[in-house]
Amino acid sequence: MKDLEQFEIEQEWASYTPEQHSIWRTLFHRQEAILARRACQPFLDGLKALGVEAGGIPDFRRLNEALERATRWRIVAVPGLVPDDVFFEHLANRRFPSTCFIRRADQLDYLQEPDIFHDIFGHVPMLVNPIFADYMEAYGKGGLKALRLHNLEHLARLYWYTVEFGLIATPEGIRIYGSGIVSSKGESIYCLEDPKPNRIAFDLLRVMRTRYRIDDYQESYFVIDSFEQLFEATQPDFTPYYAELARLSDLDPGAVLTSDRFLEGNPA
Ligand SMILES: [Fe+2]
Repeated sequence: MKDLEQFEIEQEWASYTPEQHSIWRTLFHRQEAILARRACQPFLDGLKALGVEAGGIPDFRRLNEALERATRWRIVAVPGLVPDDVFFEHLANRRFPSTCFIRRADQLDYLQEPDIFHDIFGHVPMLVNPIFADYMEAYGKGGLKALRLHNLEHLARLYWYTVEFGLIATPEGIRIYGSGIVSSKGESIYCLEDPKPNRIAFDLLRVMRTRYRIDDYQESYFVIDSFEQLFEATQPDFTPYYAELARLSDLDPGAVLTSDRFLEGNPA
């Protein structure tokens, strides 16, 4: 295990410029309007509970007070993507590593690497939900184990298709909880309303077999029924799943199987 502190930095909130705060405000207002009818209620509730506001880039010290009170999670500032073992060790101990930099004004619509808007606006509201908060801790523990078993590729797909790009079925229609979606204006609309992508009922092995793309909107989204379902599905020991996955072929991001159960998108 690498020294965790080696990857921790200070957020230095006072050093953000007025222009950087204004980029946050622009992104925030845009997403707030788009997500009102598209994000799931726990995400919207979390956003409110944390006081992640339109005012400007949040100060982690303030956020942490609210987050620790809610679910005993904390945000730790990191310089960018951290090694896998460091990432999992943080999650396993209810710490979410967040970058501190914010995208430039000419990158509002798309940025491949995560910035503070993605990490904080996208990820942290769901950590206020007790079940999702437990799922993230369990994922971190599973990650440490997958590293030892050399099965990271399969487990990474679970994170991708749930934490980053997950959808949930609700009585009002499909809603978003994935952070990669809620922090993207275009994909927030595309994932629910465009006829193109597959919206497939969540199935753990199906998800772990499916490759993903990092350079475009997703071709397939996996839809859970509830956060309880997600948490329960990932409780058993994954060792037998990894053995089975070794026998099964990987699937393309847009693959369609006869066993898939598809869900309709929402009307635009
Ligand atoms: Fe992310």
